Amino acid sequence: MTPLEAVRSLIGERGSITFAEYMRVALYDPRHGFYERGGRAGRGADFLTSPEVGPLFGAVLARVLDAWWIEAGRPDPFVVAEVGAGPGTLARAIRFAAPECSSSLLYVLVEQSAFQRAMHAEHLPGWMGERNGFELEAFVASPQLGDGPQFISTTDLPLMSCGVVLANELLDNLPFEILRIRRSAAADVDADAGDARRPRDIGDLVIEQMEVAAAPDGELDLIVGRAPQVVVDGVGELLDRAPDLPLDTWFPWQGAAGEWLATVERRLSRGHILVFDYGAPTAELAGRPEMGWLRTFRGQERGSHPLDDPGSQDITTDVAVDQFQLSSPLELTSQAAFLRRHGIEELVEQGRALWNERAHVADLTAIRGRSAVREAEALLDPDGLGAFLTLHWSIGD
Ligand SMILES: C[S@@+](CC[C@H](N)C(=O)[O-])C[C@H]1O[C@@H](n2cnc3c(N)ncnc32)[C@H](O)[C@@H]1O
Repeated sequence: MTPLEAVRSLIGERGSITFAEYMRVALYDPRHGFYERGGRAGRGADFLTSPEVGPLFGAVLARVLDAWWIEAGRPDPFVVAEVGAGPGTLARAIRFAAPECSSSLLYVLVEQSAFQRAMHAEHLPGWMGERNGFELEAFVASPQLGDGPQFISTTDLPLMSCGVVLANELLDNLPFEILRIRRSAAADVDADAGDARRPRDIGDLVIEQMEVAAAPDGELDLIVGRAPQVVVDGVGELLDRAPDLPLDTWFPWQGAAGEWLATVERRLSRGHILVFDYGAPTAELAGRPEMGWLRTFRGQERGSHPLDDPGSQDITTDVAVDQFQLSSPLELTSQAAFLRRHGIEELVEQGRALWNERAHVADLTAIRGRSAVREAEALLDPDGLGAFLTLHWSIGD
């Protein structure tokens, strides 16, 4: 069954499905979803991410890992779980940077797409295969005793007593709903006062959501429905924190990303959650004309309407950073500020010096040195990757 057939079949059963349900099929259908059909980050692939710019991003993260490993008392194993690891490019760069924590490092590549997990073995010496369930939990609890770094691939985040959970451009890709807040009098969807399952309003406000249905000609179409109670409750809480949320305009609702963060917080007893992504507060996203926060990508270019040919393109949102409530406070910075704080400029200077010393030989070391200068420009670009956000939570302090 193709994603389009799967979507049509779900609509046939239920009349309509939510946008998040649609995304789940279009991106992650185990046989035909975008990420199983070969969609991925990388040069010459569908979109370019910070790890795919070159090894410099990983070199800075290697310094961050060392700082946190030392601060935690040099634990062994030191478990770093990268979720949404894609083809494993960041893991490779961290390995190449050879941080001091390497000998204790157990790096877990958590990736849902089997197609991409199959790429991990290729470039990761020290790759120990795929582990799941009890085997994974046992592996993650065993000391490296100097044998690190070791790398394993899996589909689910293990329990971690101490470590780091990393995710680059994951949250933008987790299925999201599309919502709008309206005054009851203006709502498109008429409330059936007699229906006990009808979600409660928030004062005189109702929450509407976009749903995917089939038009009479069989084409997929977006229609407006009422958001369920769990979403209404979440929006009510967000309104308490962000009363400036505008009415009558669509914004992303990142329920799945919130659940993912809650799961991480339950599985990680002590350490750090470090997430990079593009994003803004919900009110700012809601204010963008024509849902400017919703984007599709295919073959390094912007894609077309998200309902076009499901499975053929990536679907993403700017991350609504104020929708996540963890028990520890969020430290929010720009990617540029975070990378500067952790020594990117020093690494670039080292690269420049290597190039100046060895330009006449133009060997790999010299070329890598020169490349660091270019990579830093891209990673710090205030109109590009530099404006991405770093979300950091310290857990169990
Ligand atoms: C935009 S790509 C980013 C890849 C890589 N982190 C990078 O920056 O180049 C998002 C990745 O997250 C994976 N993914 C999505 N949901 C996931 C989940 N719940 N668990 C693990 N991986 C997931 C996708 O398959 C995809 O490879």
